[in-house]
Amino acid sequence: MTRDCLQFLRSGRVVRLNEFLPRTTVLDWLRESERSIGTKEGCAEGDCGACATVVVREHGGRLVYEPVNSCITLLGQLDGAELITVEDLADDGELHPVQAAMARQHGSQCGFCTPGIVMSLFAHYHACNGATTREAINNVLAGNLCRCTGYRPIVDAALEACAEAADDRFIRSATARLQALRSLDDKLARRRAINDRYRHAFADTPGIGFLPDAPYGEPNHWLTVIAVDQAEFGATPSSVSAGLEAADIEARRSWKPMHLQPLFAGAPVCGGTVAERTFATGLCLPSGSGLTDADQDRVIEHVLAQQGTSSDS
Ligand code: FES
Ligand code: FES
Repeated sequence: MTRDCLQFLRSGRVVRLNEFLPRTTVLDWLRESERSIGTKEGCAEGDCGACATVVVREHGGRLVYEPVNSCITLLGQLDGAELITVEDLADDGELHPVQAAMARQHGSQCGFCTPGIVMSLFAHYHACNGATTREAINNVLAGNLCRCTGYRPIVDAALEACAEAADDRFIRSATARLQALRSLDDKLARRRAINDRYRHAFADTPGIGFLPDAPYGEPNHWLTVIAVDQAEFGATPSSVSAGLEAADIEARRSWKPMHLQPLFAGAPVCGGTVAERTFATGLCLPSGSGLTDADQDRVIEHVLAQQGTSSDS
């Protein structure tokens, strides 16, 4: 199956991206798009480890935590995985055991290397599960350069934190996160099925159409948008929306183009009329993957109930 977006888990939510430059690195995306600036850029060529993050994937039915240098990891390499950064480690204000040990052992001075070192040790904390050695820790830290603290307190912190079996919120949420990783594709399949069902239900209804699919890739149908032709359907998108709202069904008009918004009134406009036409006719229908067939039947029923009801049609 092909699809037209990259998807990965991040802080308990699914991130889907379908517009990014192929050369975008994970570090670029974190710092410039998500604005998560806990992850640092040092050398930007994979040598210093300041940018280390952890990528989690399923292997053999369990979650495996792998430290990666985000400055040389392309965003596309996250597909189907979970991304964890230093911002994610604290649990309700409490430092992660690795962070707490670093603080107790005075493992940080200027702090520039610290997020990367913490992430490398966090991956090891999960990998060794209470059975580490000084030699193993030296290997884990081989890719993290610290120029001012010195490694003795950092290794002591690692020995302290990794002396016990891993017990953090990532262990407690492992089953749910494993399921979330497995369901990344299931959720998309469900959105497509919902779109198919709407198309089938309105196939013979005059004046209800669908936005055309792009001729490349495969749409994820994250949101189903119908185009309501007032003359043929006998109702405006606004009146259909109002009818749905009266039945406690959330539906929204499609996106208002920027040049139609008051703030940009009078600003120069370039391009064609597609956005205006989409706004004039478009209506976003409930499309979440949690929508049941019965919920969807209710939406369809209330859309059809608006047929021919607008006084201005
Ligand atoms: S910034 Fe130095 S390894 Fe990424
Ligand atoms: S604490 Fe300064 S480089 Fe490590």
